[in-house]
Amino acid sequence: MLTVAALLCFILGANGASVSPFLTMCKVGDDACLLSFAKSSLPVLVKGIPEMGFHSLDPMYISLIVSDESGLKLKFKNSTLTGLSGCLIEKFKFDHLNKKLLLKATCDVTLTGDYEVKGQVLILPVEGNGKYKIDIHGVTFKSLLNLSYVEKSGVSHWKIDDDWSETYKYKVRDGVVFHFENLFNGNKILAEPVLEMLNTNWEVIMEEISPPIVKVIVGYEVEAVSNLLGSVPADEFFIQ
Ligand SMILES: *[C@@H]1O[C@H](CO)[C@@H](O)[C@H](O)[C@H]1NC(C)=O
Ligand SMILES: *[C@@H]1O[C@H](CO)[C@@H](O)[C@H](O)[C@H]1NC(C)=O
Repeated sequence: MLTVAALLCFILGANGASVSPFLTMCKVGDDACLLSFAKSSLPVLVKGIPEMGFHSLDPMYISLIVSDESGLKLKFKNSTLTGLSGCLIEKFKFDHLNKKLLLKATCDVTLTGDYEVKGQVLILPVEGNGKYKIDIHGVTFKSLLNLSYVEKSGVSHWKIDDDWSETYKYKVRDGVVFHFENLFNGNKILAEPVLEMLNTNWEVIMEEISPPIVKVIVGYEVEAVSNLLGSVPADEFFIQ
């Protein structure tokens, strides 16, 4: 069984940073302490700890995302998301009495990979396949996760409830830039108006295409936090 101190030595030591034993230092309800821990450990945690089975979140590899909404079939294959390590964590509250974890963060992220598209976007028909890149600037993400206890070999651990996908909201504040190579088999006369339309109407387009993308990404994040919670006994999370 891993102790909190060993886990943190591992996480923070891996980065060569000095060990900041937040979990043993934060008292229940000390939100400022929790927030500063969340901020300082984020860049290290998102890099992953393969020895402990924590996958990297930055870069995050996503083999397939499929979206089929409003007459548009969209497939993103072999994608890579970067940028999560630069997220600004604005809120991180662990309410152990009500079993809630509140998280609010703002990030700039980039998704790249291979796409296939067929259908209609707003008023224009679109089709193609090739490389894509989507730059998302200033996306604010907020989640109020339900937590519960799970017993592992007689020891209580925190876990995130399975209804996590109903607990988050997000909004892109600053803008989105879409790049799709080889639309209409490389016919620039057809491709340019579509790209211009996508980039001019990024807000509407994101509302249509982003839900399945965001759900996959959040799923990986929830898995990472679940792994972290699962590796520390619940009664070792805070100093008494
Ligand atoms: C995924 O992308 C990488 C890098 O571009 C490439 O080397 C690899 O062959 C791709 N894999 C698939 C299954 O397309
Ligand atoms: C979370 O827990 C609360 C209170 O137990 C419950 O009402 C709610 O439906 C749960 N799920 C979500 C998604 O908030």
